[in-house]
Amino acid sequence: MQINANSLSLQAVNFQMMKVFARKHALNTLLAQKKEESFQLGLVPTMGALHQGHLSLIQSALKDNDCVVVSIFVNPTQFNNASDLNHYPRTLEADIKKLKTLSSPNIMVYAPEAEDIYGTTISKQSFNFDGLEHQMEGKFRPGHFDGVGTVVQRLFEIVQPNNAYFGEKDFQQLAIIRKLVELTKFPVKIVGCPISREKNGLAMSSRNVRLTDIEQTHAAKIFSVLKTTKEKFGTEDATKIKEWVDQQFENDPILTLEYFEISNELTLEPIDEKQDKMKYRAFIAVYVREVRLIDNIALN
Ligand code: PAJ
Repeated sequence: MQINANSLSLQAVNFQMMKVFARKHALNTLLAQKKEESFQLGLVPTMGALHQGHLSLIQSALKDNDCVVVSIFVNPTQFNNASDLNHYPRTLEADIKKLKTLSSPNIMVYAPEAEDIYGTTISKQSFNFDGLEHQMEGKFRPGHFDGVGTVVQRLFEIVQPNNAYFGEKDFQQLAIIRKLVELTKFPVKIVGCPISREKNGLAMSSRNVRLTDIEQTHAAKIFSVLKTTKEKFGTEDATKIKEWVDQQFENDPILTLEYFEISNELTLEPIDEKQDKMKYRAFIAVYVREVRLIDNIALN
């Protein structure tokens, strides 16, 4: 059966026992029947092309909640590059098959078209996230976090979850969502989940499907640089480590370093010198030819 969000009717489509909704009204009608007093609802927002990283978030959500909504929506307002948006994989049918492997009757999929989320005008709100939005991804992808904030806020309003799950793979995004909830006082608990990696250390990402096998092997260098950064962090200062990282990518035939930062884990501000009792993290963005990948690691 070929499906896409358009072909889904107002009601849920029972795709091999998985409930898939294209419309918020149909989703909410079913959810309203379930919401008794102690009912816990989890939300895992995704853009699809699901991999084990996404599934690990869903598994965490299934442990904590009676029911889990997985949203699958390639959000146009968070892309600052038309080519990236056009090339973003859209694989709803395969995604639903992967969700089925979790063998849970408690998963519902919300896979809307843009209109169900945005109405007739697709636009993004402008947010002040206390400066978190100006670092790293915010510098290199202008407007990105306004788009993320807009869609996540809409998803919270539509689904009204008790708990929502986000990966540390996008650590800056996780920090920004926590800030969004603090600012809006939306009654949802944000749960951060660890990074899932391939055997060679490469962080799992929907964009990895765009890499050839050779490129995937080569891209393992991103995590190996982060691991060495962590070792060096005990004895070397941040400036010296940054110089070393630059050198690792200088003559690489495939990988181009966009940024590498060692930052305070709370403010995300880059540091030159360490302070006692502060938590630090290294963040990296690398192009594998034209595919952009990000990763990060806790340093202490
Ligand atoms: P997407 O890239 O599909 O990721 C959905 C969620 O999965 C995010 O919380 C992300 O951090 C998490 N994730 C991705 N790869 C992971 C990995 N290797 N290990 C653990 N978690 C991982 O992030 C987005 O979509 C969008 O910005 C979204 C929040 C859905 C808003 O549109």
